[in-house]
Amino acid sequence: MTQVNVPTAGVALTAIGVALIREQESRRPDRLYDDPLASAFVDAARRDFVRTENGTARWERVEAVAEQFFAGRSVGVRLVDDQVAAAVAAGCRQIVLLGAGLDTRAYRMGLPADVTVYELDLPELFAFKEPVLRAAGATPTAQRHVLPIDLRTAWAVPLRERGFRPDQPTHWIDEGALAYLPPEDHRDTVAALTALSAPGSRFGLSRFAVDPDAAPYAELRRLVSGDDDAQAPPLDAGRPAEHWLVAHGWRTEFRAWDDMIVALGRDVAVNDPAVGVVLAERV
Ligand SMILES: C[S@@+](CC[C@H](N)C(=O)[O-])C[C@H]1O[C@@H](n2cnc3c(N)ncnc32)[C@H](O)[C@@H]1O
Repeated sequence: MTQVNVPTAGVALTAIGVALIREQESRRPDRLYDDPLASAFVDAARRDFVRTENGTARWERVEAVAEQFFAGRSVGVRLVDDQVAAAVAAGCRQIVLLGAGLDTRAYRMGLPADVTVYELDLPELFAFKEPVLRAAGATPTAQRHVLPIDLRTAWAVPLRERGFRPDQPTHWIDEGALAYLPPEDHRDTVAALTALSAPGSRFGLSRFAVDPDAAPYAELRRLVSGDDDAQAPPLDAGRPAEHWLVAHGWRTEFRAWDDMIVALGRDVAVNDPAVGVVLAERV
């Protein structure tokens, strides 16, 4: 098998799908955000994929899945952008991306230089991401620290070693990553970030009605498992519920997806008032 940097299977592969979505959004005249580095990731990923066995066919499957998720997921990126901007305006100077994937908010949002962005993801993800960023000559506007680490391990230790301050308010982002963790690791991760959250810290928790057997999710799971069903990861299992956050010292507010998207002018309503985001603030 040809040696390539891009993760062609495994959960890190899902980050390529989101880069495809951000690249597509960035090309639209009515774009909701602009991520110029997304095309660098997509081009590098495509180049790597097609050099591997069955790579062209698998690449086309990744593109097809990304296309199916595009409408809702792309709007979701913009909603998280807005939450980041609001958190920074409210004084958060630390942003932690749990399962950062190919996120480039440290580069593209014009975040101030006194903001520190911590990106946590698997080593194989950064083995692909960092060379692409270097080749693109990209420079973040904020401070940026990369932590190649499995969230199922004690990630709080290296985070603190990199300068993270638990006495400062933090904006924590889970944008489609924690759902891949086994339920107990998911809850442990939220407990760990809670312990590191000074008053004023923020955390958004999506409440989506996900059917893991629906066609795009099933195909995503097949791609991640390298077409070995026995290795398919669980999805959306064991999310800490809103009442769990409240019991752990967070004040929560639920915002329905259909209300949040009104101003964005995209036809992505779900017509389910129970679907949305729980916005939590540490008291
Ligand atoms: C669907 S992608 C989302 C990436 C990014 N948040 C975004 O929106 O572009 C999920 C990410 O979670 C990461 N991830 C999943 N399980 C992980 C784990 N156990 N430890 C660290 N990262 C993990 C994957 O590597 C992948 O980058």
